[in-house]
Amino acid sequence: MNLAGGDVRAALDACRADHGDAFVFGFGPIRYHWFLGIDGARFVLLDEADAFANAGAYGFLQPIGGPTALIATDDPEHLRRRRSVQPAFHPRQVDGWADAAANRFERFVAERVADGGGPLLPALRPVVLEIVLDVLLGPSARRRHPRLADDVATMMAFANQPLLAQTIKLPVPPAPWAGFVAARRRADAAIRADIRERRAGADLGAGGVLELLLSLDGDAEARLTEDELRDQSLSLVSAGFDTTTAAIAWLSLLLTREDLRDPVADELAGLAPAAAVRAPLAGALLSESLRLYPPAPAILRRVRRGVAWRGHPLAVGAGVGLSLWHLHRDPGLWREPARVAPQRWLDRTGPWGAPRDPLAYLPFGHGGRYCIGAGLARTLTLAFAWTALRTARWTTPVPEVRPVGMTLVPAGGLPLAWRRGRRRVR
Ligand code: HEM
Repeated sequence: MNLAGGDVRAALDACRADHGDAFVFGFGPIRYHWFLGIDGARFVLLDEADAFANAGAYGFLQPIGGPTALIATDDPEHLRRRRSVQPAFHPRQVDGWADAAANRFERFVAERVADGGGPLLPALRPVVLEIVLDVLLGPSARRRHPRLADDVATMMAFANQPLLAQTIKLPVPPAPWAGFVAARRRADAAIRADIRERRAGADLGAGGVLELLLSLDGDAEARLTEDELRDQSLSLVSAGFDTTTAAIAWLSLLLTREDLRDPVADELAGLAPAAAVRAPLAGALLSESLRLYPPAPAILRRVRRGVAWRGHPLAVGAGVGLSLWHLHRDPGLWREPARVAPQRWLDRTGPWGAPRDPLAYLPFGHGGRYCIGAGLARTLTLAFAWTALRTARWTTPVPEVRPVGMTLVPAGGLPLAWRRGRRRVR
C-alpha cells in the first residue's frame, strides 16, 4: 500500500523487528493500528468483527464508488445491498465471462506477439477495464458512451495516488482533482442514462450485472434505487479492474518459469476457456500467486466501538490495517513461505498443505465481506493464462514489487518479451 509516496511494507517490516506482529504506525490521516499475523486477523475479522467498520476505512474509493458502495458501508444497509448484488455474480456466469474474456485476450496476445512485448501492465490495464465494464454494464455501454472507459481510468488514477496526495483537492484544471470531478460527472451521466433507459424499457442489448440488478425492480425488498445502482456500478468497476490486472501480471510472472508454465500449459491444452478456468493445477498456481503477491495487500477498517487488543485500547475512529503480504508469508503458517509451491493447494493434507484455518489466507477477504468479484477475477485471470499459453511464450527479468495506490503490482509494469509458440526454443 502506498500511503505517503513510499512502500508501507518495508516500514512494517522494520516496525515488526522492534514491536512484533501488532503496532501503531503512521501519522495524521495515515496512522493505523497494523496487525501482521493471524491472531490480529482473527481479532478484527472474527472475534470482535462488530467493533470494526468499513465505513470511512476506504475513504479514497468513496469519491468514485459513492456513499452506498458495498465496500464502504456496514450492516444492516450493507447486508441488504449485498443480498441484492451477490446473485449477479453467481458461478453459473463463469462460462460466459470466460468466453468473452478469452475472445478479447486473444486479440491482445496477438498484438503482443506482433510487437514483441514491452511492459505488460500498462497495455493490459485498458483491456481488463473493457472486459470488466462489459461484464458489469453490458457491451452496449461502451459503444453508447465512448468516453466511459477513459473516465473510469482517470478516476482510478486519482485514487491510485499516495493517500496524502489525495487530500489535495484543487478544483482548477490541470489539477488531478479537477480532472477527476469532470470524469465522474460524465461517468455518472452515462450510467444514469443507461439505468433510466433500461427502466423505461429501451432495448439496449445484454446489460450484464446492471441488467440483473434491474430485474429486481419488482421485488420491494431487493430493489435498488438509481443512486444505489450508480454507486454499485462504479464501485464494482473500481474495486475490480486494477486488482484483476495485477493478478494477471503476477500469474504471468510465475508463468515465465518453465517448471511452472509447462505443466499448466499441458493441462490447459485442448480445453475450452470455461473448462480451463476450472482446471486444478492452473487454479492452484493462481492461488499460490495470490498468496505470494496479493493484489490487494491490506484490509482496512475503522474502529467503531471501543475495544482492546491484549490490554491496549483502540480508540473509536482509529484506522486498522491487516497486512496480507505478511500474513501470507508467515513462516509459522506456511512451509518455506517464499517458495512457489502449487502443491499446497492440491494436497491440503500433505506436508506442504495450505493451513486449514481460513484466516491464514485472505487474498479476497473473509466472511460477510468476502470479495463479491472473486469468481470473476479468477475467471479473467485464468482465461488470460489459457489464451496466452496457447499461442505465446514469454520471458522477463524478475521485477521488484511496487505498490500503486491500494494495489500491489510488479515494478516497471512487468516487461515481457513475447514470442509465438508454447515452449521455449532452446
Ligand atoms: C484479483 C482481484 C481482486 C482482489 C485481490 C480483490 C480483493 C478484495 C478484498 C481483499 C476484499 C475484502 C475487503 C474488506 O474486507 O474490506 C474485497 C472486497 C470486495 N471486492 Fe474484490 N478483489 C478483486 C477483484 C474484484 C472484482 C473483479 C470485483 C467486482 C467486479 C470486486 C468487488 C469487490 C467488492 C464489491 C468488495 C466489497 C464486498 C463487501 O464488503 O461486501 N473485487 N476484494
